[in-house]
Amino acid sequence: MGNDGLSILSSGYAAGSRVVTNEDFARIVDTSDEWIRSRTGIVTRHFGGEGESTTTLALSAARSALEKAGISKEKIAAIICATMSADHATPSTACLLQRELSLPENIAAIDVNAACSGFVAALLACRSFLTDERPYAIVIGAEQLSRLLDFTDRTTCVLFGDGAGAVVVRKAEVPFGSCLFAKGGTEILAEGAGPEVSHIRMDGWAVFRFAVEALPAAMKETLKNAGLSVHEIDHIVCHQANERILEHVIKKEQLEDRKVYRNIDHFGNTSAASIPMAIGEMEERGLLKTGESLLLMGFGAGLTAGGVVVFYGGHDEDTQ
Ligand code: COA
Repeated sequence: MGNDGLSILSSGYAAGSRVVTNEDFARIVDTSDEWIRSRTGIVTRHFGGEGESTTTLALSAARSALEKAGISKEKIAAIICATMSADHATPSTACLLQRELSLPENIAAIDVNAACSGFVAALLACRSFLTDERPYAIVIGAEQLSRLLDFTDRTTCVLFGDGAGAVVVRKAEVPFGSCLFAKGGTEILAEGAGPEVSHIRMDGWAVFRFAVEALPAAMKETLKNAGLSVHEIDHIVCHQANERILEHVIKKEQLEDRKVYRNIDHFGNTSAASIPMAIGEMEERGLLKTGESLLLMGFGAGLTAGGVVVFYGGHDEDTQ
C-alpha cells in the first residue's frame, strides 16, 4: 500500500449564529414549512450574524480543528479553503487564515472554487503539498451563502445556509481513491466575485436530475479507484443539498441507510462547507472511530461532482 492516502486527525465546525426557520421564510415569500420540509428535508438553517463572514466562520472551524490535532505548526504544508462565497476576490480566504492562525510562511495557502464539490477538490489538491517532513494540511469548506440570496425568490432563498467545517489531515498508508467530474453548465449561477457577487439563480429541476445521475457515477468511480467495495466503507458523507436526492441515491444504489450521514434538516445547503460540517458534527457526537473509512461525495454548480475515500484517526507520532 502506498503512503499516499489521507487520514483525518481532527475536525471543527462553526454554523452562522442566527437560526432561521421555515416559518421565518413563510413571512417574507409565498412558501410554507410543509413545502420546504417535504421537498428538501430542511427545517432550519443558520445565517451569519453581526460581524460574521465566510472568513470568520472558516477561522473558527479551522482553529478548533487545529487545537484538537495538537500538531506542530511547522509540519503543516498547506491550508486550503473551498468556497464560492469568499469575502474578497483577493486576498484568498486561506491567506487570511494563514495570518490569523499564525501558520508558517513557507506554506501553500490557496482557495478552491468548485462550488458544492469544493471540499472534495480541496482535499485532492492538498495531497500534492504533503511530504514526509511536513505531512499535514488544514482543509476547510466555508460559505456565507446568505449574502448571495435573493430574498424575493422562493425557489432559491429557502435552500441555503452559512457555516464552515475544517479538518486537519495527514498523508498516511491507507487506501486512496478519488474522482472529479465537470460538465460545464450554468444551471446554478452567481456572477461576479468577492463582495460584488450577484444572487444565486438556479434551475432546481435540472440540478436534481444531474445530481441523481452524477452522484452514483462518482461514487462508483471513487470506490473503483480506491480498490474498495461499498461494504468496506464505514461512513458515506454526501454534500447536503436535498434530502430527496440522498433518498433517491440510497434506494438506487441500495446503500445501507445507517451509513449515510444527514444533517440538512438543521443546516440546509451550505455548499462547500456541508461535508466538513458533517464530519465535525460526527466527530463531536462520537460517531467516528480510529481506522474507519469515509466516502466523501460532492456535487453541484459547475456542474461538478466528485468523491474521495479518507480514513479517520491519528498516529502516535502526530503529537510528538
Ligand atoms: N415554496 C413553495 N412553492 C415553491 C417554492 C417554495 N419555496 N419553490 C418553488 N415552488 C413552486 C414552484 O414555483 C412551482 O410552482 P408552479 O408549479 O406553480 O410553477 C412548484 O413549487 C414546483 O416547483 P419545482 O421546481 O418543480 O419543485 P421541485 O419539486 O423540483 O423542488 C427544488 C424544487 C429546488 C427543491 C428541487 O428541484 C431541488 O432540490 N433541486 C436540486 C437543487 C439543489 O440541490 N441545488 C443545489 C445543488 S448543490
